[in-house]
Amino acid sequence: MSAILPPSKRIWWKHPLDKVELTWLAIAFVWALVLFFMMPYWHVFGKQNLSNEAYRISAESFQKKTQAMIDQHTVRTETDQKIPVVHPPVGSDIYLIARLWAWWPILELEKGQSYRLHLSAMDYQHGFSLQPTNINLQVVPGYEMVVTVTPNQAGTFAIVCNEYCGIGHHTMVSRLYVTEKK
Ligand code: CUA
Repeated sequence: MSAILPPSKRIWWKHPLDKVELTWLAIAFVWALVLFFMMPYWHVFGKQNLSNEAYRISAESFQKKTQAMIDQHTVRTETDQKIPVVHPPVGSDIYLIARLWAWWPILELEKGQSYRLHLSAMDYQHGFSLQPTNINLQVVPGYEMVVTVTPNQAGTFAIVCNEYCGIGHHTMVSRLYVTEKK
């Protein structure tokens, strides 16, 4: 049989299933099931796959909420871009904007306290990866992803964009501060 010419026998595919083929189909099927059930497994027993909520929101309204938080709770600015560092009240709703190619603002949280973290994108899809922890979230325009976070470690964490979002993707990095309880 050739890829260009029609097959000599019109019904060329009607053969009994070969043992090897069946074995590989079975292996692939079982493995697909294993991977499928690992998703709920990691959610229940692992520290990955956070319980998150997603809501529709426009970029303008998300930006407005973020700006309101920045206006009220900025404690200082950092770098020559004057990125506001926000220390929001414990237990409050906190907002982080993803856009080409930056995170806005920088959040400063307290260890052992819970916050409702809202994430949304202004333009294209971005990825929120918190290093060195194993936390990954999709950040999508038109939606906000909401997660309840309780930092259990103080320090400086890195936020990396892990969805390819264009020429400046590799520069889309930021920080998240966690201070000891006040
Ligand atoms: Cu944003 Cu890659």
